[in-house]
Amino acid sequence: MADRMSEGVAARPVSESQSERSEIIFPSDANAIGNLFGGRLMQFIDLAGAMAASRHARAFTVTASMDHLDFVAPVKVGDLLILRSSVNRAWRTSMEVGVKAMVEDIREGRFRHVSSAYLTFVAVDATGKSIEVPQVTPETEHQRRRYEDAGRRREMRSGEVQRRRDLRASLPPEWHV
Ligand SMILES: CC(C)(COP(=O)(O)OP(=O)(O)OC[C@H]1O[C@@H](n2cnc3c(N)ncnc32)[C@H](O)[C@@H]1OP(=O)(O)O)[C@@H](O)C(=O)NCCC(=O)NCCS
Repeated sequence: MADRMSEGVAARPVSESQSERSEIIFPSDANAIGNLFGGRLMQFIDLAGAMAASRHARAFTVTASMDHLDFVAPVKVGDLLILRSSVNRAWRTSMEVGVKAMVEDIREGRFRHVSSAYLTFVAVDATGKSIEVPQVTPETEHQRRRYEDAGRRREMRSGEVQRRRDLRASLPPEWHV
């Protein structure tokens, strides 16, 4: 695969790939007391993150990891869920994307924060091989802070990813959870 950077893929501003997805929550997405399933919210977060990552990379992307996720408030049947995503920083083939999930109170015009997460996406070609991505140009103070924070999170993540890799490599093939 040709080196996309050497082909002159320029850095892209955060605003070019910022994305939004909205969902009305149906009973089929909820448990017996009308709260959205956590796993379904994770799926929405993943999809919203993939939108920003794929737009930034202008390529297929796969989810490599999702960081810690708190469900800070329930989402109920009938709620309008809004998910906003933006690429915080890019490295060689991977990007950190931040996703914020909110419920919009349509009568008051207010937003209630329900969850947020950082995900790492890797850009891949049609065969699944990782490919280089454009760097990110932060333009606002918020975007610059997220860019710096993403660097610190990557450092923490890298040690953990390596530790888990070593653990997997040390396990026998017949190992089960
Ligand atoms: C993600 C994946 C492409 C990484 O492949 P790999 O062979 O480990 O590739 P590398 O070690 O070269 O890593 C590629 C990039 O991914 C990053 N990465 C790999 N595993 C990661 C993890 N668990 N968390 C965060 N980043 C990770 C590396 O830091 C590297 O980033 P960089 O190029 O920007 O420095 C591969 O593990 C994969 O295909 N996983 C399945 C993805 C998928 O199908 N997701 C949907 C869930 S079913």
